[in-house]
Amino acid sequence: MRWIAVAGDVHGEIDELASLLARFEEATGHPVDLLLQVGDLEPHRFDRDLESLCMPEKRRSVGDFPLYAKGEKKLPCEVVFIGGNHEPWSFLEEHANGGEIAPGFTFLGRSGRVERFGLRIGGLSGIYNAAHSERPRSPRFEKRRATYFVRDEVALLLNGGPLDVLLVHEWPEGILEDRERGILPTLLRRSSVGNAPARLLVDRLAPPWVFCGHLHVAHRRDLSQDGRSVRVRCCAAVPGEDPEAVVFLKWDGRSLEETASLAELEALAGAGARAKATRAKERPSSSKNENAAALGEGAAP
Ligand SMILES: [Fe+2]
Repeated sequence: MRWIAVAGDVHGEIDELASLLARFEEATGHPVDLLLQVGDLEPHRFDRDLESLCMPEKRRSVGDFPLYAKGEKKLPCEVVFIGGNHEPWSFLEEHANGGEIAPGFTFLGRSGRVERFGLRIGGLSGIYNAAHSERPRSPRFEKRRATYFVRDEVALLLNGGPLDVLLVHEWPEGILEDRERGILPTLLRRSSVGNAPARLLVDRLAPPWVFCGHLHVAHRRDLSQDGRSVRVRCCAAVPGEDPEAVVFLKWDGRSLEETASLAELEALAGAGARAKATRAKERPSSSKNENAAALGEGAAP
């Protein structure tokens, strides 16, 4: 069994991301084998990387990445990520076709795909902009334009064959119903949510799993596409260590299934630990892992 985590926007807070992964391991006893990330990772190596970050100056910060880039700190597993709209794009542009940008950090490129443990993982970096996304990418670097994807990058994924997991930064169009707009922060409630090219990828590729971030709001939508089920999960953001910032899944080589949420797993682990302590007082030999059921493993001995 492989344990896969998918994280929302990190915004440089990689230590908090590490803590969320450690909490999963603590609650379940399983280390995470692979971490997927839906953009706005903000992997700045040093101050100069902030120059190509599209973000108001007062909110810019190098974050935790420098120590991970030097290998002085490590996450427990490889990270495979796409770019969002807040990234050191001049640095990521050096790896526009994807690759390892630092030890254990694999960028999928502007649009790309990799295979891990037999899972076909594809992703589209950036967000949609009506003026720029319908044209070819300009060879001249401009930091705002760098945050938008272009049609050729969408086409590359469309023509690349089936995927098990699709990562997009901005939500696909039509994932949020009008009656659900209350989950959005007040400022966003009147804005349009999602983009059509991401929805095209969802509809045409019909991957069993789609993950996105960008709005920092956790949301889920299960779709049916030509009889195939497509589960879309929108992740909350990592800063503040929101347990809904990471979705955990288990992969047995045939099917990829979501576990209970981190909050539920922790509640069960707490209940399990309390029950174990009580049983230990009554019958020292009794033990049972209540969390096994939440992970779909049946009760552990
Ligand atoms: Fe974003």
